[in-house]
Amino acid sequence: MKDSEGEPPDTQGRRWALILGVSSGTGAAIAHAVAKKPGLDVFGVHRGRYADNAAQVERQVREAGQRARLWQADASTPEAAEAGVLALREVAGPRSVKLFVHSIAGASVGRFLSEGEDRLHTRRIRRTFDTMAHSFVYWTQALVAADMLAPGARLLGLQNSLDQTHLSNTGLISASKAALEMYVRYLALELGGKGHRVNLLKFGTVLTPALKHVYSPEALARLEEAHARMNPAGRMCTVEEVADFVSVLVGDEAGWFNGATIDYSGGMTLRLLDLVLNP
Ligand SMILES: NC(=O)c1ccc[n+]([C@@H]2O[C@H](COP(=O)([O-])OP(=O)(O)OC[C@H]3O[C@@H](n4cnc5c(N)ncnc54)[C@H](OP(=O)(O)O)[C@@H]3O)[C@@H](O)[C@H]2O)c1
Repeated sequence: MKDSEGEPPDTQGRRWALILGVSSGTGAAIAHAVAKKPGLDVFGVHRGRYADNAAQVERQVREAGQRARLWQADASTPEAAEAGVLALREVAGPRSVKLFVHSIAGASVGRFLSEGEDRLHTRRIRRTFDTMAHSFVYWTQALVAADMLAPGARLLGLQNSLDQTHLSNTGLISASKAALEMYVRYLALELGGKGHRVNLLKFGTVLTPALKHVYSPEALARLEEAHARMNPAGRMCTVEEVADFVSVLVGDEAGWFNGATIDYSGGMTLRLLDLVLNP
């Protein structure tokens, strides 16, 4: 674990955000946002592929006056969840996690019946479900077992709009997100009586460094243009807008959301039929 400031373990009532996938995109933006408001320390997990970004997140959290601890591991296994929560407990002390966000993205695209390289074979299916869905349960189990949830803790999974409309090569991602949605609902049932809240935040495409890495500038421009036509607001959502809304969800005012899929997609799929039938 990288200890950014070398402070002693904290049991002084500080509140922490545990963010899986802290070094890029949504997770990185959420770390920055919740460090500013409501002022959470951040324990972030990533595998080290975006080292510069990770360092920037640490800086941003510290500049907001909060503590940052980054922990490098593959977060998709139950063993990693147990070890990560143990490491978090050492620096944060018990009952200190106000927010847990599952923002890792590691999924295979392809087709289930393809005979080619994009076939979604067993290993890809298992890996995608471990990363995108099961790990949400593993980390929640580890947090509860180690008595890490602060009073009124918020647990958050992230969803996209592919539950309403489909892209032909994203069936595995959508299936894993459907599992995640059910995990969220059942964990909300199990944790609700203890005062905790478990929700799924759904939002449309946002341009993350990972997407920018994958797509050419021309493809990105096409993506932006298509979203400008789809979204009633006439533009793409930004990752900062999503992150700022997570700050809202941590607040007392959002305390009645539970087991919900919160639609923050800006109406991204409302116009699809219109775009097809009246191009
Ligand atoms: N981007 C969008 O348009 C969009 C829209 C709706 C919902 N979402 C959801 O938001 C979440 C985050 O997506 P994103 O686009 O922000 O992702 P991203 O930019 O690709 O970042 C993913 C983060 O997760 C880390 N990561 C990936 N696999 C990991 C693993 N096995 N163990 C530990 N860390 C891991 C990555 O760092 P390392 O690779 O170094 O580990 C990185 O920090 C996903 O659940 C996605 O479905 C995204």
